Amino acid sequence: MNPRSADRGTADRGPQTADRRNAEEVPLPSAVRGPRSDYDVERIRRDFPILSRSIRGRKLVYLDNAATTQKPQVVIDRLVRYYTEENSNVHRGVHYLSEVATADYEAARTTVKKFINARDEKEIVFTRGTTEAINLVAQSWGRVNVREGDEILITAIEHHSNIVPWQLLCEEKKARLRVAPVDDDGDIILDELARLLTPRTRLVAVGHASNALGTINPIAEIIAMAHANGSLVLVDGAQGVPHMSIDVQALDCDFYAFSGHKVYAPTGIGALYGKESILDAMPPWQGGGDMILSVSFEKTTFNALPYKFEAGTPNIEGVIGLAAALDYVSLAGIENIAAHEHDLLTYATGRLREVDGLRIIGTAKRKAAVISFTLEGVHPHDIGTILDREGVAIRTGHHCAQPLMMRFNIPATSRASFAMYNTRAEADALITGLHKVIEVFR
Ligand code: ALA
Repeated sequence: MNPRSADRGTADRGPQTADRRNAEEVPLPSAVRGPRSDYDVERIRRDFPILSRSIRGRKLVYLDNAATTQKPQVVIDRLVRYYTEENSNVHRGVHYLSEVATADYEAARTTVKKFINARDEKEIVFTRGTTEAINLVAQSWGRVNVREGDEILITAIEHHSNIVPWQLLCEEKKARLRVAPVDDDGDIILDELARLLTPRTRLVAVGHASNALGTINPIAEIIAMAHANGSLVLVDGAQGVPHMSIDVQALDCDFYAFSGHKVYAPTGIGALYGKESILDAMPPWQGGGDMILSVSFEKTTFNALPYKFEAGTPNIEGVIGLAAALDYVSLAGIENIAAHEHDLLTYATGRLREVDGLRIIGTAKRKAAVISFTLEGVHPHDIGTILDREGVAIRTGHHCAQPLMMRFNIPATSRASFAMYNTRAEADALITGLHKVIEVFR
């Protein structure tokens, strides 16, 4: 993989010549080695140093994973190694460190490609996260392909990052944003979605899983419906990638966006997958170094995919850390993680149902391990504050999904969200904390 950017100076001396020390060579902790059936959560926990700290004199119980996940030592070590041994700019230098950094950066692209089963590295564009990836599509693809009177179809369950970029586009283009409703369980009403697919629907933008309710949407079905209608599909995979195996070719989605920090990688890094033919036809979004082939004051020609969409010095450390995180997840086995989290979801849901006055918001048939709830007579922020005193970290608020809160006639919820390292004992700690909340308020 050798970007042909003129910024690099020597297009034919690629990183292939460098001493390639990519993420695959990073020693992985023993906890995630061994037979896949041997998912040992206590050993996994030891890989995450922050989990052994205490908060306000209590053992940390971290249940805010839908906001961001904690990082395993292997990812932290990889970042330290990058800065202590490899730090340099990518795609630009002919010197050793630049070649090493470029090789690692491009090896990470291959790791992402394999993780979501894309066909080619050209289809993987690094971004700051899901939000930037969706904005890229709205501003690049959208500006060219959406015209007055066209429609973008989203659902009532979307995060603000899969609403606002489309609103901005629709405003600019005098296009129409349409919204498929959800039922009382938080499932998208597919008949309604089908009804809202019209000849003017240019794109359907749908979350893989809801950050606020946990609903896993039937995206394969939605993609098939949209394609039958001649519409493209963007999947917001921020809550998909951490919890289930992703195969973008099997799904046949046109775009898939996700964030690294939700899947044990650093913040500020994510990726956009796009089908090559679609990305190729899209104009650049941001201009700057690395995304060009040649620049003169009269005319600029642009670099090949995916560099056309990666203007400026990228988040090199983030990309390398992302690869280390995905390798870690792959070794633990995403199916094992999904099974473990499903067990926690079932267990915690059962225990929460025993709490007097507690109402679970989001009871969809298929859920990721995200549980939103309200407690009669207690504001979610008070719940969060009292739980925090017990060392239990949850999120409270509207979860960047205000229209969804309106749909359920509530201003906010409390939300516990689980990850690969959580335990049933931590679900019990949440319940004990909630009983303390009840003692204070009743
Ligand atoms: N989208 C993140 C959440 O759900 C921040 O908490």
